[in-house]
Amino acid sequence: MTEDRAERPEGPRGMRGNLTNYGDAGFALFLRKAFIKGAGYTDDALDRTVVGIVNTGSGFNPCHGNAPQLIEAVRRGVLLAGALPVEFPTISLHESFAQPTSMFLRNLMSMDTEEMINALPVDAVVLIGGCDKTVPAQLMGAASANKPAIQLVTGSMLTGAYRGARVGACTDCRAFWGRHRGGELDEAEMAEVNGSLVGSVGTCSVAGTASTMACVAEAMGIALPGSATPPAVTADRMRVAELTGRRAAELAAEGLTVDRILTPEAIENALRVLLAVGGSTNAIVHLAAVAGRLGYTLDLDRFDRMSRDTPVLVDLKPAGRHYMEDLHKAGGVPRLLREIRDLLHLDALTVTGRTLGEELDRSPEPFEQDVIRPRSAPVYPLGGIAVLRGNLAPNGAIIKQAAADQDLMEHRGRAVVFEDSADLAARIDDPDLDVEADDVLVLRNIGPVGAPGMPEAGYIPIPRKLALQGVRDMVRVSDGRMSGTAAGTVVLHVSPEAAVGGPLRHVRTGDTVRLSVRDRVIELEVPEEELRRRAEEAPAAPPLPARGYRRLYVEQVTQAEEGCDFRFLRSETDRGAVPADP
Ligand code: FES
Ligand code: MG
Repeated sequence: MTEDRAERPEGPRGMRGNLTNYGDAGFALFLRKAFIKGAGYTDDALDRTVVGIVNTGSGFNPCHGNAPQLIEAVRRGVLLAGALPVEFPTISLHESFAQPTSMFLRNLMSMDTEEMINALPVDAVVLIGGCDKTVPAQLMGAASANKPAIQLVTGSMLTGAYRGARVGACTDCRAFWGRHRGGELDEAEMAEVNGSLVGSVGTCSVAGTASTMACVAEAMGIALPGSATPPAVTADRMRVAELTGRRAAELAAEGLTVDRILTPEAIENALRVLLAVGGSTNAIVHLAAVAGRLGYTLDLDRFDRMSRDTPVLVDLKPAGRHYMEDLHKAGGVPRLLREIRDLLHLDALTVTGRTLGEELDRSPEPFEQDVIRPRSAPVYPLGGIAVLRGNLAPNGAIIKQAAADQDLMEHRGRAVVFEDSADLAARIDDPDLDVEADDVLVLRNIGPVGAPGMPEAGYIPIPRKLALQGVRDMVRVSDGRMSGTAAGTVVLHVSPEAAVGGPLRHVRTGDTVRLSVRDRVIELEVPEEELRRRAEEAPAAPPLPARGYRRLYVEQVTQAEEGCDFRFLRSETDRGAVPADP
């Protein structure tokens, strides 16, 4: 037991757990039971192990629109195991309903999750999450609270159809919007597309952040085997929920805490799966944050070395062709893990109480399918994400190489600089904008401190005048993030960010920027002396909001490579770097 983890007595305590401090424990329990009996409970119910169910349903979160059905199924599982299920709410975050950005609110949700797990008499918790920031927030909070916990994702939405073609959020949202900007589709057609993209409740149907984190959670062993991929509205999803509830009750009895599951080996397995899925770049930030809660520091260079021998095997949009429901039918994460078995730590313990290797031995025999490729015929021969460094990003930057234009991966071009999102919005469609197809679009002040909250604005749109000429991709560089559903030659997470004085702050329109994914370089071809002069002329002036959560955020948020967590939320104990040096 380390000091930064909550002290906990042995075994399930049920309603006797986490008593409010009235100085008289007997009275505190008497009072608690009196209150909850107002909801009609018997002593028999209240004398049992308590499994908390974290309800993140919200009218503003269609990605969690199946929360009521999931909760019912989890409750059934808990009851079948003889324990008492009790649901409670936390903040819910949906990507489109989280101004200024869901990332800004992720840490708040993690604090809510941690503190409610600590506050309530729960012997174990089922974390129902799904939309992009929710699973990271729950894993961060649960890691810090360190009670027995199990992740249950809401599952992906069904695909829709537009004029006979299958479509899904949100890679196709972007593709159609790009075509609209290019003049191919008019307003009426776009209205029709708008009603087709999201086929049901559930999370985005491609390898975006939600799908990536679902796969990663399963690979880490914090969610049940086979639980990542069943779509939100299917019988499989409800069965997974029931099994999760049942297992949560057992976890409580066994006292299997999160720190025994989320080990360095589990985090490495997660990184492998992130690469093999061709998953969202956001997951690297989230995994750095989760690792930090457990005392580990993510080493980007070692992660990059891992990327060189981990092929992308899952043929999902945006890098590939298929959707999450196809991945499920193809055998889901267990099938993928079998394919990269030699790259995994098979002795990592999972929430089932068995090791990952034991779970893979029990998983269904592989069958013919075309979503999860064999090692001999990968979607992309290297990992989905590469780490870049250079004088423009001394602390690192990343690129989703599997989703980039292979002709732009070695590129030298003239920088066209946008000061911030407002400047970009004001000028990107200006017919007089001085920009050519082989220029490099640079956007700054969209980092963790700069925006704040590091919005997914790094997917800079192609200037309209070039889009109309048929230009579909350009090299783009920023200190922001990009949605996992987006594709293109987009350099992200440049660190340190411009707002805290990173070199990105000093790029000027007309400078030459060099990108070499092969050499892992992102460089500004300006003499060091000149860069120093520019830095002296324009010292960093980070924003300092007057009050509230925004003030806390800007003062405490770390850079991308540290997970954009708050400094005070990291574990106090330094347990070293992950992944281990290969
Ligand atoms: Fe919720 Fe994409 S918006 S998963
Ligand atoms: Mg997203």
